[in-house]
Amino acid sequence: MIRLDKYLSDSGLFSRRDASRLIRSGAVTVGGMPLRDPSAKIDEETASVAVKGQPIGYERIRWYMLNKPADTVSTTDDDPKSVMNLLPPELRRVGLFPCGRLDIDTTGLLLLTNDGPTAHDLLSPKKHCEKRYRFTCLPLDEDQVRRLEGGIELSDFTSKPCKVTLDDPGHGAITVTEGKYHQIKRMFLAVGSEILSLARETFAGIPLDPSLAPGEWRTLTEDEIALLHTNSDHSGV
Ligand code: URA
Repeated sequence: MIRLDKYLSDSGLFSRRDASRLIRSGAVTVGGMPLRDPSAKIDEETASVAVKGQPIGYERIRWYMLNKPADTVSTTDDDPKSVMNLLPPELRRVGLFPCGRLDIDTTGLLLLTNDGPTAHDLLSPKKHCEKRYRFTCLPLDEDQVRRLEGGIELSDFTSKPCKVTLDDPGHGAITVTEGKYHQIKRMFLAVGSEILSLARETFAGIPLDPSLAPGEWRTLTEDEIALLHTNSDHSGV
């Protein structure tokens, strides 16, 4: 048994707040009758729920964060190096996929989900969703930092302005709002430096949980999922 508002937000079609609003407005029926109480408990296995007459089936939306180790691939393909092999067998059958890609040698925060619409929104270039990476590199000077921050013309696109902070010439953090193939490595090469290691620390405002060792994962909290929804357009009708 779960709350009616959670049933609707688990569908991935509505945020919890929109679900509550719809329920209170009488737009949600259970077994054909309007049910206006967002906290009403229903049986997710058997209830027939509809919003404005459209049946909404129950599919539990799942979000996990993984501390991706090096030498793993962000793919759902049947690949011995796939990050999916780090999950227990029962979670490999629920339609999860990585929300974006990290290179084989990039480590750190990778989200896994079965929520296609929200993942699609978060990865859309229009969303400007922030991702922060810690890097080590061949020494960078202030001029190279300024060029990286201003946007770099690459063969197929020009990177958007970004933020780079240096701890010393070979270590720092970069925050970008895009996620093109090998983007950060290509940006550094274009200014005459080179990335030696890259680790993602945050995605859409969510930091990697420092208690996760490489290869470990955990479920996102409700607050973290809510943060993802505020950073995506996918908050319902
Ligand atoms: N930029 C890269 O070059 N590689 C990654 O894995 C992520 C961002």
